[in-house]
Amino acid sequence: MESIGIGIAGFGTVGSGVYKNLEKNGSLLRERTGASFSVRKVAVKNPGKKREVELPAGVVTPDWRDLVADPEIRVVVELMGGVEEPLQLFREAILAGKIVVTGNKALLAEHGHEIFQLANSKNVPLFYEAAVAGGIPIIQAVRHAFVGNRIESMQGILNGTSNYILTRMQDTGMDFAPALAEAQELGYAEADPALDINGWDAAHKAIILASLAYGKWIPSSQVYVQGIEGVTAYDIRFADMLGYKIKLIASIRAHEDGRIAVRVCPTLIPHEHVLASVSGVFNAIWLRGDVVGESLFYGRGAGQDPTSSSVIADLAQAAAVLGRGGNDRGFAAHDLYGDCLPMAESLSPYYLRLAVEDRPGVLAQIAGILANHDIGIASVMQSQGLIDGKLPLILMLHQARHGKMQEALAEISSLRCVLAEPRLFHVEPTKKV
Ligand code: HSE
Repeated sequence: MESIGIGIAGFGTVGSGVYKNLEKNGSLLRERTGASFSVRKVAVKNPGKKREVELPAGVVTPDWRDLVADPEIRVVVELMGGVEEPLQLFREAILAGKIVVTGNKALLAEHGHEIFQLANSKNVPLFYEAAVAGGIPIIQAVRHAFVGNRIESMQGILNGTSNYILTRMQDTGMDFAPALAEAQELGYAEADPALDINGWDAAHKAIILASLAYGKWIPSSQVYVQGIEGVTAYDIRFADMLGYKIKLIASIRAHEDGRIAVRVCPTLIPHEHVLASVSGVFNAIWLRGDVVGESLFYGRGAGQDPTSSSVIADLAQAAAVLGRGGNDRGFAAHDLYGDCLPMAESLSPYYLRLAVEDRPGVLAQIAGILANHDIGIASVMQSQGLIDGKLPLILMLHQARHGKMQEALAEISSLRCVLAEPRLFHVEPTKKV
């Protein structure tokens, strides 16, 4: 087979990793797939910049449109970051009939509907393994290995940075801010780590997984997202005493009535749950299909080599499509599932931490409000001693509707005896995996 011309748009950590690893394992790839790749052009913002991976003369261009215009380039690898410019690249590359490979989760989560409609109308395949969970092949698994399943649920740790921060808080007792600073020093968190810690990086990945599982692009406005900024060392310690770890969990679920729910939030996970043992920058996805049952995926969710491993797997798929012809639709819309379950209707047990005055009657007032909203208390824990002059009161609550819980929380927050903003986290029911 002749060599397939590719263009890489963006030569940062992942782009240079793809180039480096194609050089390193190109012959292995050729033996296994029959395909070889030649990088004809690399688009970079700053062509004069000194790079860790050197590129041959004539390959570098400042304009990604040169990749689209090159008739020898059959596959464009989009690793630029951002949303607006990559969207433009996708539109132009698809119209030019080029296969696009990407790791851009924000782009797909926000514009997947438009992009795949255009790609399908032009019969152009798109591949995006690197967009979700770095080196873990979860996209191929859902698209191909589990194609004969209805996906009942997926739960995942989809952001390495936030998992690193929570792990360090758990292991050392340190608070959120120093753990974040450490993650930044180690290069895990971005210089602006907002999307990592506010839950949206994981939410973009969850939207992509939900699109594959349920055949529709869920608008981000219908995804419940809570970041880890509000998790304190106290919460980690109290949760630990109660038998849980706190993890940022992305949950994608089809309810029996067909409605689907996607949420990302700090969640108390029982120590014995398989996701509780996923530490540091690792990612994991636990999936339940109606035919296969339960499956677990674990691996590196970020970083140059793991992510470029996924991009190269997509190049191999692109080569297979080019070799045999036809399309390999990256997303297939269907109406087998219903709308999104409104978050207010979703059910979960909760962890509620309050800072209250230490006097008789306080617990009775709080319990009264919960009872008025039909929310049962599973257990109450009062810490020995005051924290910052306030008494921490931790309530583990039975399953409640999110809407009712929020109403009760507003009432509880307005009590004079409640001295600080309450912390409310979801709890994973104690079902063991
Ligand atoms: N910043 C992400 C993480 C990796 O920490 O998992 C890229 O999505």
